[in-house]
Amino acid sequence: MVNISKLIQHYTDLDQEYGASNYNPIPVVISRGKGVWVWDINNKKYLDCLAAYSALNFGHLHPKIVKAVKEQISQLTLTSRAYHNDKLGLFLRELCEFSNMDKALPMNTGAEAVETGIKIARRWGYQKRKVEKNKAEIIVCENNFHGRTTTISGFSSNLNSYNNFGPPTPGFIKIPFNDTEALKKSVNKNTVGFLVEPVQGEAGVIIPDKGYLKAIRDICEDNKVLLILDEIQTGLGRTGRNFAFESESIRPDILLLGKALGGGVYPVSAALAVDDIMDVMDPGSHGSTFGGNPLAAAVGLTSLKLLQSKNLSQKANKSGIYFLNRLKELYSEKIKDIRGIGLMIAIEFKRELVKSREIVLELMKNGLLTKDTHRKTIRITPPLIIEKKELDYALNVIKHVII
Ligand SMILES: Cc1ncc(COP(=O)(O)O)c(C=O)c1O
Repeated sequence: MVNISKLIQHYTDLDQEYGASNYNPIPVVISRGKGVWVWDINNKKYLDCLAAYSALNFGHLHPKIVKAVKEQISQLTLTSRAYHNDKLGLFLRELCEFSNMDKALPMNTGAEAVETGIKIARRWGYQKRKVEKNKAEIIVCENNFHGRTTTISGFSSNLNSYNNFGPPTPGFIKIPFNDTEALKKSVNKNTVGFLVEPVQGEAGVIIPDKGYLKAIRDICEDNKVLLILDEIQTGLGRTGRNFAFESESIRPDILLLGKALGGGVYPVSAALAVDDIMDVMDPGSHGSTFGGNPLAAAVGLTSLKLLQSKNLSQKANKSGIYFLNRLKELYSEKIKDIRGIGLMIAIEFKRELVKSREIVLELMKNGLLTKDTHRKTIRITPPLIIEKKELDYALNVIKHVII
């Protein structure tokens, strides 16, 4: 008979022995997934309330996504952008129409979309705003999370992200999040863009004050600065709307998408903008061997159609309100805050009383997968397809563990 705990140890040991230790995963070895559920190698079932940091908005192995992958994989997977393919245009049209943008530049990972946004903004600054050569500045927020490339890590506030990876790329100014006065004060003649998450995800679901998005839109407009919204995590239904920016009826100048665009099977990301901004990009200025490949396009197109046909943003809004209200009934002296928007929810514990990692491990033992952040917060971001009985399952496990 196979000894399961030995088998779990075997897989975690393999990861540790042959993998760089740039992650600290919780000790569960998953081998199967379907919808909102995953199973470990012992066939133990867990509700997936991380959903790969919001990349699994449609759950695991959604039949429509799987069908699109199977169909496309038997036709054509990769052409590179040296040639046209018969899927990319269809995907880009849907993406632009869905987000009310003129043009999209397809990439793979979220970080690549962010890098693309930065390049577009800088070029636009030099070519259209006539900023002095190599002086362009982009304002970012403290406690941001935009990915892991050298440039992006360089303007992180997280020591682990930037320490000993310097020198940081110049041209980034950091201001507090949710602070419109700081934005006004930091803008100068070299500022070309303000890069911001509408809700800070990795920081622990930090929701700005009502009116913040509208105010930053106006400040950017008044100063001819591009508003670059990173909706890689918040976009595509997560906050209970197709895009978080819809909550204040604004439109960004550059929109960055990723994660759920790949339907949970394949990395698909994009930077989008209106014509007058995107037209600074010309042949040779940017690209990626895999970006915009037919398989990615088929997956992206299907993800967008699925989101709309099932009204998943509205569903996330309804589920989020229900879940958050029920969760708030569990307030105790250990908890500092329970907050959320749509299905982007966080419980922040009092740091001196609770280590969030320990809670995450207990939840795991009881069949619920979540993730800790900043030692005091756990994030709950289930697939948007989650049903009420599954939300109740999560609430029961959380109640059992934290009360
Ligand atoms: C807001 C935001 N931007 C960018 C990224 C980076 O995406 P990726 O990990 O696909 O590079 C993330 C990932 O968590 C994110 O949450």
